[in-house]
Amino acid sequence: MTTIISELVERWQIIANFGFQKNMPNMKKIFVSIILCVSLLKASADEGMWLPMLLGEQVYNDMVKKGLKLTKEQLYSINKSSLKDAILIFGGGCTGEIVSDQGLIFTNHHCGYSAIAGASTVDHNYLRDGFYALSKDQEIQSTLTVQFLDRIVDVTKEVEDGVKGLGWADRIKKLPDVYKAITDKVADKENGLAGRIYSMFKGNQYIMYVYKTYRDIRLVGAPPESVGKFGGDTDNWEWPRHTGDFSVFRVYGTKDGKPSEYNKENVPLKPKHFLPVSIKGFKDGDFAMIYGYPGGTNRYETSYGIKLKNEAENPSLVGLRDVRLKFMYEQMIKDPAVKLKLANSYAGIANYWKFFDGETKQLIKYHIYDQKQQYENAFSTWAKGKAEYENIMSDYAKNYAAWTPYSKMRQYINEGIVGSPLAGAASQLISLEDKLLKNNAAAADIKKATDAATASRKSFIEGEDLISDEKILAATCMMFYNDIDKSQHPIGFYESLRNAYGDLKEESTFKKWAHDVFANTMLLDNAKWAAFVAQPDAATLQADPAFSYAAAFVKNYTGKYASLYTAFVNKNNELGKSYMKGIMEMNPAAVKKMYPDANFSMRVSYGNVKSYNPRDAVHYDYVCTGKGILEKYVAGDYEFDLPTKQIDLFRKKDFGQYIDKGRNDLVVTFITTNDITGGNSGSPVIDGNGNLLGLAFDGNYEALSHKIAFDKDLNRTICVDVRYVLWCIDKLGGASNIINELKLVR
Ligand code: ARG
Repeated sequence: MTTIISELVERWQIIANFGFQKNMPNMKKIFVSIILCVSLLKASADEGMWLPMLLGEQVYNDMVKKGLKLTKEQLYSINKSSLKDAILIFGGGCTGEIVSDQGLIFTNHHCGYSAIAGASTVDHNYLRDGFYALSKDQEIQSTLTVQFLDRIVDVTKEVEDGVKGLGWADRIKKLPDVYKAITDKVADKENGLAGRIYSMFKGNQYIMYVYKTYRDIRLVGAPPESVGKFGGDTDNWEWPRHTGDFSVFRVYGTKDGKPSEYNKENVPLKPKHFLPVSIKGFKDGDFAMIYGYPGGTNRYETSYGIKLKNEAENPSLVGLRDVRLKFMYEQMIKDPAVKLKLANSYAGIANYWKFFDGETKQLIKYHIYDQKQQYENAFSTWAKGKAEYENIMSDYAKNYAAWTPYSKMRQYINEGIVGSPLAGAASQLISLEDKLLKNNAAAADIKKATDAATASRKSFIEGEDLISDEKILAATCMMFYNDIDKSQHPIGFYESLRNAYGDLKEESTFKKWAHDVFANTMLLDNAKWAAFVAQPDAATLQADPAFSYAAAFVKNYTGKYASLYTAFVNKNNELGKSYMKGIMEMNPAAVKKMYPDANFSMRVSYGNVKSYNPRDAVHYDYVCTGKGILEKYVAGDYEFDLPTKQIDLFRKKDFGQYIDKGRNDLVVTFITTNDITGGNSGSPVIDGNGNLLGLAFDGNYEALSHKIAFDKDLNRTICVDVRYVLWCIDKLGGASNIINELKLVR
């Protein structure tokens, strides 16, 4: 009730502030627009990715009202240990949390996926069969890093002073140096400390986060893939869900707790804080908060951006990925060695193939484009006569109109042409070609460049599946020909292809060509490669069929279109900064409840465990259980198989201390109203007392438009219940050593 009242009061204030009541004829229209403005602007329901170090009183009080029992200091403190000290950036784009006093880390299975696949061989297939270190000496070295947040500093003034008086183009050019001058002051190599500066509110505020990076991270355990990825891509981004999406790692440091490279002498890190683990369970409506590193949102995206996304960017990406995935999948299901090779790249491509497909479907279904347009109209009405703001929307229109004709082509380069791993690897050689073409390049420079090329060729070959890639090469080359305006084709390429291989309407033409590329490129021929690096010259490289293909398309793009794209992005950013500032000025009462878009800086989101109604007449419960796993189980299936041991234990209801007594079953997953996004994967779901309830690992299909618009009724975060995690480790995996390290709350 009170929130509804305060919302009404706020709406009224805005109407009163702007004196709209005098403008009677337009009153109704404007009233509708303003209400839209407010609901778009202000974090409603459980929307909000808050900076834990800058929680306003209003937000903190709301957390307490919802069930938080901790003080602000316990959430975030620079002097004392606090919750934030248990949260880390895991690898390149996930979140993890410390769960023991010996540096034990929980994160998602899909976050540890490449490390698990990398540690596997066809004979010791940890990805397929699972793995648990029963003692520390069995833990497996990885190439992962983790980063702890040491402190944050508001550096808005320094940044703005550094670019004072500059126009936008010069500002962009100078910013990296300004950032560097600021982060250099806090860099401390010996202690692994480095700063990174984040632009908040689209460049209206700058905050430096100082991180401590640890480099000795070891794999401790993972369930079999059938558990960790149960339901595969069919269930991905969906609720109900039965995936045991967790894996276990440990962070090591020197004896005095400093970061170091892998070293046998290193010891498990003694953390400043670790999360106790609750096996008490919870009810629908209970408080839940999530700490982590959401990667990116664009909640102030314009209608122009949505149109481009829906009409060009997303459908192009989805169509091209469809084809690549199909060819990869055909080989992966045939051969376990290919499966291990392609698994990680396949998972990544498939994950966002489904996401972008669903994102557009939901943006259309919920009329987000229309809502944004109404909001922008209201903004423009407000901006009339204000020089700083009145042209923003027409400038957006011009900027999008200038770039739109090339947007699809850009996607076809990124997702199509270099979506062939061979073409992707070949395109990397353009910088080597540049060096070879330089008249007076030093021999040492060329040697360095060819050594680097040899190293990347080696890793390309390790991950390469020839059969699928040859099909991808042929198909993407043909799709570009058919779908992209002829005026944007690289000059001469398709003509020579026709002259050498025949009719470009025929798929067989592209297949014959692709076959020859694979048969002749030095990237796939050790002897040819060795001869080339022994005497590298540009002509040999240019004559290579994989290089000449990739280079023709990539250089066509970089030569003619890349500068247009950069100009488009820069202008959008410039407009975005003013637009954001205008939005805040237009609606000062709501500013306190605004949060900056996600940008992979630490955030906390709070809400409740909560069931929902996805569509008419359908109710979704807030948990999934073992019963549902048995219902979905299909022996031998690629996505819905399970270890027979699990089936036996489930049928016997052998759930040990992890049982949900009320249900006489195991709760495997649950949903909350928290506002998270990609990058939050692996994030701890924490109860009001600071104990771990589970790990966030996904969003639901009905809310796939969440990067742009948070839906307060439908948005849910999908989490694996920590009781299922522990059951998998203990009962299924037999690794009671891991359980013994935890602080269980019963
Ligand atoms: N959708 C999940 C996320 O983005 C990743 C799930 C990985 N599983 C999969 N079947 N691809 O966090």
